Amino acid sequence: MDNTRTKIDAGLADLADPLRDFRNRFELPNGVIYLDGNSLGALPKTVRQRVAKTISEEWGEQLIRSWNTADWVHLPQRVGKKIARLIGAEEGTVIAADSTSINLFKVLSAALDLNPGRSKIISERDNFPTDLYIAEGVAKQVGKGHRLVLVDAPADIPAMLDEDVAVLMLTHVNYRNGYRHDMAELTKAAHDKGILVIWDLAHSAGAMAVDLTGADADFAIGCGYKYLNGGPGAPAFLYVNPRHQGGFRQPLSGWFGHRSPFDFEPAYSPSSSIEQYLCGTPPVLAMVAMDEAMSLWDDVDMAAIRTKSIALCDYFIQEVDTFADELGLKLVTPREAEWRGSQVSYSCDNGYAIMQALIARGVIGDFRAPDIIRFGMTPLYLSFAEVGQAAAILKDILATRAWDTPEYHVRGAVT
Ligand SMILES: Cc1ncc(COP(=O)(O)O)c(C=O)c1O
Repeated sequence: MDNTRTKIDAGLADLADPLRDFRNRFELPNGVIYLDGNSLGALPKTVRQRVAKTISEEWGEQLIRSWNTADWVHLPQRVGKKIARLIGAEEGTVIAADSTSINLFKVLSAALDLNPGRSKIISERDNFPTDLYIAEGVAKQVGKGHRLVLVDAPADIPAMLDEDVAVLMLTHVNYRNGYRHDMAELTKAAHDKGILVIWDLAHSAGAMAVDLTGADADFAIGCGYKYLNGGPGAPAFLYVNPRHQGGFRQPLSGWFGHRSPFDFEPAYSPSSSIEQYLCGTPPVLAMVAMDEAMSLWDDVDMAAIRTKSIALCDYFIQEVDTFADELGLKLVTPREAEWRGSQVSYSCDNGYAIMQALIARGVIGDFRAPDIIRFGMTPLYLSFAEVGQAAAILKDILATRAWDTPEYHVRGAVT
């Protein structure tokens, strides 16, 4: 345990918090301490009205005219532009579309195409499973003998970067333990060996400032429904470095990626811009919700987000440290802020039941098999007082074994 840190006082920290007014811009139920914004972000208040207006006026009255009059057709570009600022991407390099899994399929296929004659895709065994599953599928689909090679620890990555590696595919912040890679350093190490790099920003976008341009990343993907608060199943995003745009094709060659979809030509001719990464008709209601959720970020200072995120995590760790050893919790998130994202995770026995008992007491986090309980820290709508209360409730549940009842052991389809 690191006892050299200054103890955080929740009351003082809340008073000094420059982001505290943002909480009023979200709908949050009374009696809930929401520590799961890393899985599904809270509802920004204006999204409700904006979606209602889209339904009643744009769809209900204007009908198909709204593709032009409400500019539905350019929602993927508009949303992409708003996300670009948060991830350090230049204009015209980010687009909102599809899901993170599908976007990974597109950019990984493109990256392998751009780096022929090499057979390996390197990733981590502990990467989010959909990334690994998609990579397996792409390798099979391309059919040129590509294989996915997995490392067991971040420290093993540099030694794996040799002349037979085509792509390094990593998630910036690990979904399970919150470990954060050094994006610039790993991207450079890969580029020095002629390797292209794809970053999954699912747990970084909106949780901290990301600098894709500074790191010279080749491709990136990420979710809209986590820290960006775009709503359940919100459109995802993808980034393509300008040097890779136009020089190749992504394989999902749908009509929205055509250079002129409304010419209705029988042959596919791809757009040379980021629009090539669109496939079919955008889901307008979901895009509108995402667009509205993203407008809140215009007023957000990303440096303040990171400062508060670090402090919230430090505070939670500090409070849980007082009982973790005694009550069976092992911190699996790095203590050093530089090496973590915006979540705190513990491994423990009976983690699923413990999380159910917490949820029953109004503290919503989640469980990741086999033994991790996760607490996501979202600087826009969490207070230090709530984080302190969550730690106290966790202690009480562990000390009284309140989790040890049959109902808390029954697993839902989603954990
Ligand atoms: C790192 C990472 N990538 C991808 C996903 C999910 O992708 P999709 O939106 O396609 O379900 C998640 C979901 O939690 C994730 O944590």
